[in-house]
Amino acid sequence: MKRIGVLTSGGDAPGMNAAVRAVVRKGIFHDVEVYGVIGGYAGLMNGNIEKLELGSVGDIIHRGGTFLYSARSEEFKTKEGQQKGIEQLKKFGIDGLVVIGGDGSYRGAKALTEQGFPCVGVPGTIDNDIPGTEFTIGFDTALNTVIDAIDKIRDTASSHERTFVVEVMGRNAGDIALWAGLAGGAETILIPEDPHDMKDIAGRLKKGHERGKKHSIIVVAEGVMNGYEFAKKLKEETDFDTRVTVLGHVQRGGSPTAFDRVLASRLGARAVELLLEGKGGRAVGMEKNQLVDYDIIEALAKEHTLDLNLYKLSKELSI
Ligand code: F6P
Repeated sequence: MKRIGVLTSGGDAPGMNAAVRAVVRKGIFHDVEVYGVIGGYAGLMNGNIEKLELGSVGDIIHRGGTFLYSARSEEFKTKEGQQKGIEQLKKFGIDGLVVIGGDGSYRGAKALTEQGFPCVGVPGTIDNDIPGTEFTIGFDTALNTVIDAIDKIRDTASSHERTFVVEVMGRNAGDIALWAGLAGGAETILIPEDPHDMKDIAGRLKKGHERGKKHSIIVVAEGVMNGYEFAKKLKEETDFDTRVTVLGHVQRGGSPTAFDRVLASRLGARAVELLLEGKGGRAVGMEKNQLVDYDIIEALAKEHTLDLNLYKLSKELSI
């Protein structure tokens, strides 16, 4: 393999730049030319591809977002779109592709692999919802953003003796809500993986109030319901003075944490190694601080599982 490509796709995540940097530098270290695809799969179909040099990835390890741009493409979900992409890769003499993104991006990589073009997936999403890796690139940074917000909200919640509902991202996964809720000392955490009972939640909050607790933080994963809807339901059960904060896309930005930079560097470099070893159709991940890789097709068939022990702990600590 003498020429590889790299693209970022789907929702951006802090640390994607660090992963691209690792792919480029690891490739060049092994005398391989690296080409960047601009604008995800849409850019690939249009042949928006350019050669990256060592300097192209200078000064980006600390930057959020992705300098290769990202997009979600409906056309690439079709066989015709995928063939267009493969034609472009061949036109540029590219023999393997590193795809950095979430599950939608993995599906694209899987489709290309099935059509004979070797791809390796690198998990980049704030949602932490990719099977086969304990952590995805961007999750830790997003968590820290959420915790920073919760800490600030706690100050005002305390001054006004209010209940705050904080809605966080995560798509269908509750990882951001769970980890941020635990780290932020939330009284209640709602995740899509566990059904909730409004009466039980209201009962627990009321008990807390009776004990003298004057403010509460409730973290709601967007996969459960939106924060305003939850606050409305809570209002039907209690008379607490409640406010809602929807953190939204602020969770996707910012300089990646050291953890995400290191994770991205390790995963990006490993993806290049796999391509050089002739192992396409793989996805890389991190389990117990060790690099792992697995079949991308099998990976997508599995389900991401949230750490239920952590969830149990969060309940025990928020009595
Ligand atoms: O997958 C990342 C994510 O930020 C999810 O948490 C969220 O549901 C979604 O993307 C938002 O997508 P968009 O940026 O297209 O609104």
